[in-house]
Amino acid sequence: MNEPLLTTSTPPITVLGTAPGAAGTGRTAATVGIDAAGDGIPDPRRLLRVAALIGSVRRGSLNRALFRAALGAAPDDVVLEPVAIERLPFYDGDLEAADASPDVRAFRAAIAAADAVLVVTPEYNRSLPAVVKNAIDWASRPRSSAAIAGKPVLLIGATPGMGAVRHALDHAAAVLAFAGAVPFERRLGVADAARLLDPDGDTPDPGLREDLADLLASFAAGLRSEGRAEVAA
Ligand SMILES: Cc1cc2nc3c(=O)[nH]c(=O)nc-3n(C[C@H](O)[C@H](O)[C@H](O)COP(=O)(O)O)c2cc1C
Repeated sequence: MNEPLLTTSTPPITVLGTAPGAAGTGRTAATVGIDAAGDGIPDPRRLLRVAALIGSVRRGSLNRALFRAALGAAPDDVVLEPVAIERLPFYDGDLEAADASPDVRAFRAAIAAADAVLVVTPEYNRSLPAVVKNAIDWASRPRSSAAIAGKPVLLIGATPGMGAVRHALDHAAAVLAFAGAVPFERRLGVADAARLLDPDGDTPDPGLREDLADLLASFAAGLRSEGRAEVAA
């Protein structure tokens, strides 16, 4: 029969189990400040800032439409902030040594300032697009102070085909883990995306919106369990 249109990895997971400082370290919401008053009521001023890397720049991109759907499905206390990756130069050790690219500096600063990262990626030739890999490469350097190190990363992507970008998400997760990031165990790959997403608007399929909302909420819950929260300005 048909492949499922939406795939998520199994099992459903709501905490970032392998992240430094994850559940099991003895830290509680009160000790890390989510519930600063200690009265059991989460502090509403605290937002989770998620830097979003989108792997397609083309007009009518299904992955940009997926990002817009994520914007509409994100919990109120989660801020998804797109970070441009398309103007980054190809990774070059000389450029890095000279710290010569303002775009790279801005990109690294945006990743470093975020509580977490969202990668929204197409699949190219059964892997991740070069523009996404290049961004991860820049964020992984220098190894000793890499902006991506320790960052929880949620991976989602869309394709008009029926393969649900499984290879792209798998490869991206492997690359990110090697770079020191912490890929979230649940992912979302959208197959048949031309039917489920609206490239010119903001009206995704209701089932997809629900899956996105559930995924983003569980990602946010995992971040909160680690105390990754910023006080809103
Ligand atoms: C170089 C190239 C390779 C592709 N390889 C795959 C692939 O391996 N799997 C897949 O599902 N789609 C593949 N596609 C089709 C893309 O999923 C499709 O172009 C998609 O719309 C790209 O994402 P976007 O709409 O966000 O730009 C490929 C497209 C290109 C340009």
